[in-house]
Amino acid sequence: MKIALIADVHGNTLALDRIIKEARSQGAERLISLGDFIANGPFPVETLKMHRENGVEMIRGNTEDYIADAYRHERKSESFLALGDTIRTSIEWCSQLFTGEEISFLESLPISIEISLPDGSKLLCYHGTPASNLGVLRENSDDAIFESIIEENGSQYYAGGHTHNMYIKRYKGKIFINPGCSGMPICSYAEGKPASFFAGTEYVMLEVSEKGGFIASIRRIEICKKELLGLVQSSDMPNKEARLAMIENCCCAK
Ligand SMILES: [Fe+2]
Repeated sequence: MKIALIADVHGNTLALDRIIKEARSQGAERLISLGDFIANGPFPVETLKMHRENGVEMIRGNTEDYIADAYRHERKSESFLALGDTIRTSIEWCSQLFTGEEISFLESLPISIEISLPDGSKLLCYHGTPASNLGVLRENSDDAIFESIIEENGSQYYAGGHTHNMYIKRYKGKIFINPGCSGMPICSYAEGKPASFFAGTEYVMLEVSEKGGFIASIRRIEICKKELLGLVQSSDMPNKEARLAMIENCCCAK
């Protein structure tokens, strides 16, 4: 049994298409998208459609909540009001693109999915933390946060996104996975400096053993900058020039 963990697609249909094709061709039975798959990217509506048409299971991230709130003219949450201009503009734009049916669908998505593995252990998938799609769980988060997650949940394995920083961490016998950012993978990051990005996409594939445990592999697929630039150029996304510049400055594997 293979499971593909995808995180933070952010409206990048090219990235999602590459992951779906690769993961399915390698026998992935389940593809789990860990939230934040539509906002702050070129093709929000198409990305949602692609998830639905290809049987990609979805978790509701904080930006899915913001879009639904904006659609319903409820923009009062503290976290929404604290958003930066770029993301807030994208949320407003996205909220005008979706139909009522699509908004209701987004609102109906779960904030976590628990998967039973063949040996009886559980893999708990979520966006930020199991309790909140606004929660932040970094590799170097305080031990107290990992402790409370383990205490509140009986799972052996945990998978979430939101921070865009990929890691696989063992903590007190439990495994925590963050597949990074499938829509705009971070290439390098240093505190206080702007991040640089990788021209492509990333996800984590789990090859689950019948006897227990799994092999987790970090997958990175390079995408030609020209294709990425073309995708953004053909979109009506706000702040398009900034995104184009970001792609121009991306680093490539070769
Ligand atoms: Fe998020």
